[in-house]
Amino acid sequence: MRAFLNLVLLVFAWNATADNNRSNGSKLIREKVPLEAPKNLTLLNFDDKDAIISWEPVNPESVRGTFRGYIIRIWNHGISQVYAIPPEVTKTAVEFLPFSKNFVTVSVRNDKYVGPRSVAINFDAPQTEPGMPFLFEQTQLGSHSALLQWNKPGNPNGILLGYNLYCSEAMDVGINDKTTVHEFIQGMDNMQAKITGLKLGQKYQIEVAAVNCAGEGERNTLFVEIEPHNPQPPSMPTLKYTINYKAMEKDQYFNRKCTRPRYPYFPHEHFGIDHMDNDFYIFNRTTSKDNSENLQKVMAEHSCLVKTLIKWIPDIDHNPGEYFFVKYRLKGAANWNETPAEKSEDFLILENFNACKSYELIVVAVDGEFRTESEPEDTPAVLFLRQQS
Ligand SMILES: *[C@@H]1O[C@H](CO)[C@@H](O)[C@H](O)[C@H]1NC(C)=O
Ligand SMILES: *[C@@H]1O[C@H](CO)[C@@H](O)[C@H](O)[C@H]1NC(C)=O
Ligand SMILES: *[C@@H]1O[C@H](CO)[C@@H](O)[C@H](O)[C@H]1NC(C)=O
Ligand SMILES: *[C@@H]1O[C@H](CO)[C@@H](O)[C@H](O)[C@H]1NC(C)=O
Repeated sequence: MRAFLNLVLLVFAWNATADNNRSNGSKLIREKVPLEAPKNLTLLNFDDKDAIISWEPVNPESVRGTFRGYIIRIWNHGISQVYAIPPEVTKTAVEFLPFSKNFVTVSVRNDKYVGPRSVAINFDAPQTEPGMPFLFEQTQLGSHSALLQWNKPGNPNGILLGYNLYCSEAMDVGINDKTTVHEFIQGMDNMQAKITGLKLGQKYQIEVAAVNCAGEGERNTLFVEIEPHNPQPPSMPTLKYTINYKAMEKDQYFNRKCTRPRYPYFPHEHFGIDHMDNDFYIFNRTTSKDNSENLQKVMAEHSCLVKTLIKWIPDIDHNPGEYFFVKYRLKGAANWNETPAEKSEDFLILENFNACKSYELIVVAVDGEFRTESEPEDTPAVLFLRQQS
């Protein structure tokens, strides 16, 4: 856009001159609809966020009026942009619409009319850095922790991989670089994190940025200052869980997500248990090819035992508590198991979780001596019949 603002303004400036001339009355031209469309519209290459395109000028006779330049239209499935280009230009950069199939046409314009559109070209536009996460908010947890929450950027501009979080001690001016801690929060739907070890009387600068295959987008910033806190009973927390959670190294995760074919692009993931909600899922045996073989493979690999991630969702509107632990049991069993307290993160992972059985889960929010349990939640029993992706 930035490159084009100038050009568009330029066109308006010329129009003003043209109007002056016309008002002079010495140079009236009768304008008619231009006859020809420019030919050989070509995508030459991509440059950062722009597509470089060229075309061939039309026969001047065919303009049938005062030649004012070209109109370029670029669109995809949802957005359309129009640019005015001066008459002497036949090669230019236009900002492409990232991570989608783009279409482009060019037409001639005179003082009154725009001529026919050229043959449309189309291309698969690359990803660009994502937009900024918005509604970035913090809530104090106990005496030296804070919960950070944000929303997905409106423009992912590609495959969102997760979020970069930066935490630094703030100074009177700027930040103390030496204290900066960087953490990558994996998963585009993972929009909550806990920071801990915060000191009373110290101000912290926290930044969050979305990450896709093209890189990191613009950062959103907030400041955290801990206030003195006296423990009191936490309000009731809730929880989220992900059965068959696959912890992946960052590099492995990026490589895997970023080599997926871009087209056809659907904004949802492969069918897989890790993206399912709370329902009872049984996959139809006959829907996947060589499924019996696959079934045995998955069964043999896990024997139903998987990792399950439990995310603590504190009640941020009241007293959320400082940290949490999880109580769980096979549905109907007499006794509860308790995990150790998780004091630094807002999640924990249950190893050897038998996904073929149903469990009851409770998260317990803790503040000093006080504890508050969530409502128990039943997990579905899952039958592993999915294809390895
Ligand atoms: C307007 O008229 C002036 C003086 O006659 C001339 O120099 C200029 O080129 C004209 N502008 C256009 C856009 O025709
Ligand atoms: C209008 O045209 C006359 C004669 O062609 C010229 O002398 C005069 O400078 C023009 N005025 C403007 C404002 O261009
Ligand atoms: C069309 O434009 C491209 C890029 O400028 C050029 O390489 C090619 O030779 C042109 N084709 C024709 C048929 O003129
Ligand atoms: C399972 O798949 C078969 C073949 O695709 C289909 O006819 C059947 O209705 C499916 N059963 C269920 C329960 O979805």
